[in-house]
Amino acid sequence: MKLYLMYGGRTVEHDVTIMSTHSALEAIDYNKYEVIPVYITHEGQYIKGLTITSPVASDQALKLDLADQASWRKDPEHSLGTKFELDELANNQDAVVFPMIHGTYGEDGTIQGLLEVLDVPYVGAEIRASAVAMDKIMSKIIFDEFGIPQVPYLPVLATDYQDAAKADEILASVTTKLGFPVYVKPANAGSSIGITKVDEQSDLRAAITKAFKYDNRVIIEKGIKNARELAVGLLGNDQPKASIAGEIGKKQEFYDYESKFVDGSTKLIIPASISAEQLAAVQKYSVLAFNAVGASGLTRADFFLDADGAVYLNEIQTMPGFTKFSMYPYLWQASGVSYPELIDTLINLAVERYQAKKEIAANL
Ligand SMILES: Nc1ncnc2c1ncn2[C@@H]1O[C@H](COP(=O)(O)OP(=O)(O)O)[C@@H](O)[C@H]1O
Ligand SMILES: [Mg+2]
Repeated sequence: MKLYLMYGGRTVEHDVTIMSTHSALEAIDYNKYEVIPVYITHEGQYIKGLTITSPVASDQALKLDLADQASWRKDPEHSLGTKFELDELANNQDAVVFPMIHGTYGEDGTIQGLLEVLDVPYVGAEIRASAVAMDKIMSKIIFDEFGIPQVPYLPVLATDYQDAAKADEILASVTTKLGFPVYVKPANAGSSIGITKVDEQSDLRAAITKAFKYDNRVIIEKGIKNARELAVGLLGNDQPKASIAGEIGKKQEFYDYESKFVDGSTKLIIPASISAEQLAAVQKYSVLAFNAVGASGLTRADFFLDADGAVYLNEIQTMPGFTKFSMYPYLWQASGVSYPELIDTLINLAVERYQAKKEIAANL
């Protein structure tokens, strides 16, 4: 079977997707799969690398991503790769795509839409689950409907906030309904971008203005003081299994972009030291959240644990970080599924879902 590993892309998590892909390339079972790397540049061009048929060291695995799109264009021989023609995937039953892309244009339903149109099996959530999980307002409303505990929140629309009287009402209701601190977030961004922790009313306007730079829908949430942050991995299609829980050992309260990707100040604690009841709760709510959005394949569910021991779902990620040092693969490793087995399972789940959909389509 041909496994197309798509990575890179127009996302702030571009470099993380490269690391995830390098890890996957080391772990793939080459007796089963022939791997075709497809690198998407920052500008959105698709570049196809040479087919990989045996394990390669990650540092020499791919040269495509070492060069950005600018040097690719300057490379007259195109020695780094060739332009990828998407119709190579069209209705290709021998292929499966692993879109190893986190964040915008990867995890938000857009690439999933492309792959649906091409009619090719692919790993992970479909369009709806991807788009809903990425949107902090949509996902919160759905999770509420299914009784999943979350922090109190207030959605804010740019059209309302532009009206001075309505803006004053919104600012007042933050104090009355949520209290401080609050977290102000663009509904659709990721990687902590555009998010501000606000400790007092006087800083609220600036934080809202900043969040509106990234989206015209913003969410304001009650901040949990000294929250611990937990994660659970989900694996499966209709009946996903939940992994054990892990904890993000943060140096500081706000797990921001720097601490996520730059300064290496976070460590993963697996298993998280929580009570059996707390573990049962996060596992139960993880599965419920996965099913509520109708996810498939893989998902990571992120929770807050407050000082009183109560858990709240923060968000779910339908294409979580997938480097061999990332939370999601570690959680499965600790739950008895090795990194190579995890990849294999995800590919099988992708093919199963594709076939199940074909059967449904045949009934229409
Ligand atoms: N309501 C909250 N209470 C406490 N901490 C929060 C809250 N919301 C966000 N944070 C902090 O901000 C980080 C990023 O917020 P999150 O909603 O997960 O955004 P992203 O989608 O960018 O990961 C969290 O990991 C946590 O450290
Ligand atoms: Mg997060």
